[in-house]
Amino acid sequence: MIRPVTRHVAQNPKDAAFYNNPYNFYKKLHRIGGPIYWQDYGFWCLTEFNAVTSALKDRRFARLPPADMEQHTYPAHLSDFTDAERYSLLQQEPPDHTRLRQSVNRAFVSRSVQSMAGEIRELANRCIDEFEADGQVELLSAFATPIPVTIIARLLGVPDHYCNDLRAWSNAMVRVYTMTQTHDEEIAANAAAASFIELLKSLIEERKRQPANDLLSHLIALQVPPDPLSDGQIISTAILLLNAGHEATVHQMGNTVFTVLSQQTGARDYFDNDASSDATIAEAMRYDAPLHIFTRYAQQDIQLHADVTVRKGEQVGLLLGAANRDPTRFSNADQFNPQRDDGAYTTLGAGIHFCVGAALAKLEMRIALATLFERLPHLSLADTPRYQDSYHFHGLQQLRLRW
Ligand code: HEM
Repeated sequence: MIRPVTRHVAQNPKDAAFYNNPYNFYKKLHRIGGPIYWQDYGFWCLTEFNAVTSALKDRRFARLPPADMEQHTYPAHLSDFTDAERYSLLQQEPPDHTRLRQSVNRAFVSRSVQSMAGEIRELANRCIDEFEADGQVELLSAFATPIPVTIIARLLGVPDHYCNDLRAWSNAMVRVYTMTQTHDEEIAANAAAASFIELLKSLIEERKRQPANDLLSHLIALQVPPDPLSDGQIISTAILLLNAGHEATVHQMGNTVFTVLSQQTGARDYFDNDASSDATIAEAMRYDAPLHIFTRYAQQDIQLHADVTVRKGEQVGLLLGAANRDPTRFSNADQFNPQRDDGAYTTLGAGIHFCVGAALAKLEMRIALATLFERLPHLSLADTPRYQDSYHFHGLQQLRLRW
C-alpha cells in the first residue's frame, strides 16, 4: 500500500469532542481533499461526495473480503450472534445477495409501506397525548423510539408487547458493529441474539400454521420453488429489518428535531405541508445523518487517487457523514437550508445495498414530526443535548424539550 504521509490523519473516535461534533474533523479532511489514511482505524477513507457515492455503486468494493481470501469471523462467544447474521443482506454479495434482496423487496411490496401512514399518525398522537400536559419531555424515549420500533414490529408481524425486548436486543447487538465494543458487550450481544432467534423461530412456526398479512408470512410464502427461503434466511432477514428498521430512524428523528430547533426561524414552518416536511427531512438527513461510516473490502488492487492505491483484501472506510458536508458538492455545506437547490445525501447508501427501508423511514419521519410540531408549535430545547459515545451511530443521548 502506498501511504503518502501528508494524507495520514489521527483522530480517536472515542474522543467526546469528536463524536459530539465530527464536522470540525471533516472540515480538516476536506481541506486535504481526496482519500485520507485514518490512523486510529488503520485504513484509507473516502470523504468526498462523488468518491463515496461512486464507491457505494462500484462492485470492486464489497462488504465481504474477496472470495479467495480469508473471511471475517466472530469469536466463539459470539456464536448466536453469528447465526443471527449468517444470511443477513449486509453479509452477502451477488449472486446470494441478489436473490434474497429480490425476495425482501417483493415482501415489502406485498405489505405496502404507504398503508402504514394511518398507524404512524395514530401512534404519534398517542405518544403526544401521554406527555402533552407535562410541558416537557425527553423526546427520544417518549416519541422517537416507540414509533419506529412499533411500526417495524407490526410490519413484520411481531406483537406490540415484544417492543421493549426488541429495543433492548437491538441496542445490545448493534454494539458489535462499533469496532470499539468491550468483551462484556459482546457477551450481552450474543445473549440478545439467542433470545431474538428463539422468538422468531416460534413466530415463524405460528405463521406457517396460520399466515397473516405481515412481512414474516410473505417471506415464508416465498418458500416455494424456485425461490425457497430457509428458516435461517428468514430469521437473519427479520433480525436485520427489526434492528436496521429502528436504530437509525430513532436517531435521525432526534437529530432532525435538534437541528430544526437550533435554527433562528420558527420550527413549525419547517413542517407546514407535505412538500416543506419532505424538504426539511431531506436536508436534515444530509446535515446530521445517524450513520457516518461504512466499510468495504477492495476486491482487487484499486487506485483511489494519483498517489494512493489500496491492495486487494484491504478495507476502505466510506465516510457518509463527511461526504454530506463536501464543500465542493454543496454550497454553504455547513448551513442547514431545506430550500437549497443542490440537495442530495449519502445517508441511505447507494448501489446494491441501498437502504431497504428508505421509503418507510421517510414516511415515519414526515408524519411523526409534522404531527409533533402541529400539536406542540412552541417546542424549544430545554438544554443543549449531547451525542452518545459512538461515532458509528451518531445520535443524541437524550433530547429534552419544553413548551
Ligand atoms: C433514517 C433511517 C435510516 C437510515 C439513515 C438508514 C441507512 C442505511 C444505509 C446507509 C444502508 C446501506 C449500508 C451499506 O451500504 O453498507 C442501509 C441498508 C439497509 N437498511 Fe437502512 N436506514 C434507515 C432506515 C431503515 C429502515 C426503516 C429499515 C427497515 C425497514 C432499514 C433496513 C435496511 C436494510 C435491510 C439494509 C440492507 C440492505 C442490503 O444490504 O441490501 N433501514 N440503511
